[in-house]
Amino acid sequence: MLLREKKIPKIPERRILDEESWKHGYAAFHRLFRDPLGWFYMGNESGDDLVRMDRKTCCSWYAQSAACGRTCEKYLLDLARARKSEKLRSLRKFSCHAGKSCVLFPLPFLNEIRSSLILCNLKTSGTAELAKAFYEFLKTQRELSQKNFELQNFYETVHPRALALSTMHAVHRVVSAVYNLEDLLPRIGRLSMQILKAGACSIWLFDEDREHLILKFDSEKADYKKKVIRKKSGAGFEGRIAVNGEICFKRNVLAIPFLDQDILGLIILRNKQGGAAFTFTDLEIFKILAEQTVVAIKNAKLYDETQQLTLGAVKSINELLELNSAGDNVHLPLFARLVNEIGKDMGLRGEDLTNLGRAVLLLDTGYVGLPEKIRTKREKLTEEEYALIKQHPHRGVNVLKSVSSLKPVIPIVLHHHERFDGQGYPHGLKGEAIPLGARIIAVVDSFTAMISKRSYRRSKGIDEAVSEIRKQRGVQFDPHVVDSFLKVIAVEFPGAVEDFRK
Ligand SMILES: [Fe+2]
Repeated sequence: MLLREKKIPKIPERRILDEESWKHGYAAFHRLFRDPLGWFYMGNESGDDLVRMDRKTCCSWYAQSAACGRTCEKYLLDLARARKSEKLRSLRKFSCHAGKSCVLFPLPFLNEIRSSLILCNLKTSGTAELAKAFYEFLKTQRELSQKNFELQNFYETVHPRALALSTMHAVHRVVSAVYNLEDLLPRIGRLSMQILKAGACSIWLFDEDREHLILKFDSEKADYKKKVIRKKSGAGFEGRIAVNGEICFKRNVLAIPFLDQDILGLIILRNKQGGAAFTFTDLEIFKILAEQTVVAIKNAKLYDETQQLTLGAVKSINELLELNSAGDNVHLPLFARLVNEIGKDMGLRGEDLTNLGRAVLLLDTGYVGLPEKIRTKREKLTEEEYALIKQHPHRGVNVLKSVSSLKPVIPIVLHHHERFDGQGYPHGLKGEAIPLGARIIAVVDSFTAMISKRSYRRSKGIDEAVSEIRKQRGVQFDPHVVDSFLKVIAVEFPGAVEDFRK
């Protein structure tokens, strides 16, 4: 760590001299007093100090020699110390060791007198009235500087805490909304730059064998997405931090390793905006950010494992269905593509679209276990047989409910045979009470069934099938879904249906 935290000055009185209103007011009084020589005395626990205020004016005595000057300073310092110990609370006129007319103005601070102002070499008669006015001005300035001091103190104490809280909130929002590491890390990188006003950010994570760091985000390199950029563990600036796990805190670099049981990687910020230096407050906030990122990385890895498990479950169930369907699933790619395009057209995104895609593969899970003679029957089904077929949505749900990550798919599977007019099964739901995914699937299921070749019935032409769907707009099917379907069929991929039929 190469920087020291800048401390707030502990003597608020000293700040008087920095206030603009003091500079203007003192200049005006200085002219009225006809150019005296001013001194500011400050006493505190660790010692005291006398500051000469007027470099352009001088007392003839003080100017005689440097040795004499030192004598004046010693004389004034002793005088100010004596008045301080006397706890003098009002201005005091005096003649100095050279016989010049002077005034000392003690500066009260709460119940203490720690500082004072001395004007030497006063020339005018009528100084008394002017000195009173000046003293009032001086006390007002002291109060002002005290208030500013407290305000700055408050700001420097509260501001980092407020910033840390808002950082936690912002990172939490990102972490809870994004599970995919490839999306998450760039968002955390950009957020870090924004919060800490940095010019650049990069994020590195170890690969599986922990021999290399892989660049996951770099605000200054666009190509990290196109090709894998790696650095050997232990080599270079990044490699060393990722191995020794130490924070790097320099004027224009902040680097923090992601620490879990192992070091997962690191995040680096460079170049504070406006050429400023990174501060201790920045470091503290950056630490919180890095800790939150570790949680996010672990969550994303867990989420990824769950996704892989879910995908495995979907594939297994689908293979069972394939075995049972005797090759009837040939329309599945077209089915899935139409459902996906209509879903997108109707505003579904991300997780919703993923679940809709999974539902397509799992719709008829409930057929598994139905007697083969019913599943493969080409003639008209008896009433009992049809009643068994109508149980397949419920049977499917019973299978799927044991896989918790497939929970969002269940309403779609359960209701994919509902009709918009309420005449469907299993619950006879009507209109928008039917889940949107199920309403979309109902249209596409009907369309692909009509254009599929079946040994037991003639398949319909595409125009005929589209016209059937249009006829059922607002009756069997949701009118908005039908509108999307017609748009997708006509605009998005007019050749896809023809390809399927070849
Ligand atoms: Fe079905």
